[in-house]
Order: sequence, then C-alpha cells, then structure tokens
Amino acid sequence: MSDEEFLIEARSMKKYFPLRGGLLKKEFGAVRAVDDISFFIRQGETLGLVGESGCGKTTTGRCMLMLSPLTEGDIYYKMPGDVRKRMVELEEKEASLPQPKKRKKSKKVPKPEDPDMLELWEIRQKYALNRKDPETLRRLRREMQIVFQDPFSSLNPRMLVKDIIGEPLKVHGVLEGDQITERVKLLMERVGLNPDHLYRYPHEFSGGQRQRIGVARALSLNPNFIVLDEPTSALDVSVQAQILNMLNDLQNELGLTYLFISHDLSTIRHMCDRVNVMYLGKIVESGTKEHVFENPLHPYTTALISVIPVPDPELKRERVVLAGDVPSPANPPSGCRFHTRCRFRQEICEIEDPPLEDKGNGHLVACHFR
Ligand SMILES: Nc1ncnc2c1ncn2[C@@H]1O[C@H](COP(=O)(O)OP(=O)(O)OP(=O)(O)O)[C@@H](O)[C@H]1O
Ligand SMILES: [Mg+2]
Repeated sequence: MSDEEFLIEARSMKKYFPLRGGLLKKEFGAVRAVDDISFFIRQGETLGLVGESGCGKTTTGRCMLMLSPLTEGDIYYKMPGDVRKRMVELEEKEASLPQPKKRKKSKKVPKPEDPDMLELWEIRQKYALNRKDPETLRRLRREMQIVFQDPFSSLNPRMLVKDIIGEPLKVHGVLEGDQITERVKLLMERVGLNPDHLYRYPHEFSGGQRQRIGVARALSLNPNFIVLDEPTSALDVSVQAQILNMLNDLQNELGLTYLFISHDLSTIRHMCDRVNVMYLGKIVESGTKEHVFENPLHPYTTALISVIPVPDPELKRERVVLAGDVPSPANPPSGCRFHTRCRFRQEICEIEDPPLEDKGNGHLVACHFR
C-alpha cells in the first residue's frame, strides 16, 4: 500500500479543544474531539465518515481543510507515491530514535541535523497542508471546499444568490464583474437551478434548492476535493435522493473526490466507496463498503448496521440496541473507548486501547476480540 498515491491523507491527526474556567481562564482539561486518527482518500473516490452525534465527524472534516488548526499530526495533499513510501520508511526510523524533549508551542522547531531526519522534515514541509505558509495555503484552498449540513443557516440571508455563489470567485480574484455573473449562471444550471433566479434571496428557495446553492458555491472555484458534511440530513427524504444523485453525477462529470460525512448508514451505503466508522474521536473500523456493510467486525459497527431498516419484511435481523449515551470526549473511558457500551467486553477492554489493525485486504478494525 505504501507505494500508492493518495489525494489527501491525515496522519496521526489530533484536535483537542481546551476547556477553560475560573477567573484566570485556566485550562483544566480538553475535549478530545479527534484523537489520533489516520486515513487517506484516493483521487475520485468517496470516503464515508459515519458515527453518532459528537464523535468528531465535523471536526475531522474541518481539519482536513485547515479550517481549524490541528493539535497534532499532519495532513498531506497530493504527495507522490514514491515520496510517501520514502516518508513511511523515514518515519519508522524516526520512531526508533530517542524522542526529543517536548518544547513549548511558541518555540520554533529547529531543522534536524541527522540527514535522514532532515529529509523527513523537508518532505513534511513540502507536502503537509498544516506546514504551508498562509499564501500557499490560500491558493490551495481553492481546490478544497465544503458543503455544510444546514442550508438554512449556512447561507447569508441578506445576500443575493448571485453574490453567495460568486463570492469565492471574487475573494480569490479569479474573475471580475460580468464574468462572475456568467460563471454563476453556468453553475446554477449545472446544479439544476434556474439561472434567471440570480437576484433572489435564500429565503425564496426551498431547502433542497438552498442546498443546490451551497453546492454551486462549493463548485465555483473548480475544486478537486469537497467535504460534504451531512449535506442532506436537514432535508425531506424525497429531496435527499435528488441531491445525492446530483452529487454523484457531479463527481462523475468533474472527477471530484469527496469526504462524505453522515450519521445515516443508508446514505453512506448509497454514496461511498470506502467507509470509516468513528466512535468518540477514534476510527474503530475502516474498509470498503462491502467490508463494512457485509462483514462488519467491530461491535459498534454491527450495532449501527442492525438498526438500518430492512426493506424485506420476511428478512429478520437481530437489532442490537446500544445502551446508554456516548460518553463525554472530555473524559473518555479507559482502554477501548467503546467498552462501556459493548456487549462483548472483557477485562482487557477496560485496560488496553486496541490498535486499528488490518484484518485482510485493508479492512481495519480496532477491537481485542476480532
Ligand atoms: N469549537 C469547539 N469548541 C469546543 N468543543 C467543540 C468545538 N467543536 C466541536 N466541539 C466538541 O467536539 C466534539 C466533536 O464535535 P463534532 O461537531 O466534530 O461532532 P460530530 O460528529 O460532527 O457531531 P454531529 O453528528 O452532532 O454533527 C463534541 O463533543 C463537540 O462538543
Ligand atoms: Mg457534525
């Protein structure tokens, strides 16, 4: 796998939100929204991210686009396969070296002296989004966009549709004046909106149409990668299918790569090539759609799948009810984070956190008993 080329890849990504309190706003803990996850997305594919509310899906999506700075880890974009292979080799060497002392955040990390570590440092500087200077990042941002969950609150109610869709073109100085209007018209047609409605406000559109506006806006700069954060969960079921089909058509036409976030497994199944299942800031299972839906291995995945409605009433499936709520990510359970709700738990689960391991053909699972 290491020689493969990925469009975008997160390595050991962490995102903690500090918890502060008292008069001096002292930090007394942190919400570990994303806690050391690694995954990749290939050019042109759709990777699904599924899990209950609060497990860190949106935070993951935002971090991938550098809309929120990482606490630790790196996000690599367009790294050639041979460079990645070399990086993995060098990372193994790095792990075997004595760990440097922790520095204060404000202190700049000096360039390493060891030639191999210098090479690793240079690869990271060159390909990690989180190490780019602001100007380079701004240019790269054009290639990466996001469509938000709620088309009712994500569109500025005081802006005309023409300006909402055209704003990224203006901000990035790609086009001017009439050229922007022409491009906006084309984009509106592309997402199935009437281009004569340029001078309307968001409230004059239905939920589905508003989400089409959100998609047109995301497409305005010809992106390569789009994070779709629950793009249809605020919409009626009949409208959902239309939007999902449109997203599929756009992907085929434009060769787009998607990170598709949803808490709804049926939608994930419809849209995705591969799936990551998240629980409390960690990936607990990852694999192709077939791996995850036809041979789910993690007890959490099994429970999520068991509650998907089955269209055939003759077909009986055991429903696994997940007891209790998701624990707080500010104070996650010890060992395997899922153990407090797992019906197969044993002593070891409370003590040791199981690593995400390959069970064959890239089907990864983090469970002591699988
Ligand atoms: N800006 C923030 N400051 C503090 N905590 C945050 C912030 N953003 C998210 N969190 C916390 O991080 C955790 C993960 O949140 P996130 O929004 O990523 O979850 P999610 O999986 O997208 O949930 P949902 O399905 O409800 O959208 C939650 O506990 C949330 O309260
Ligand atoms: Mg979310």
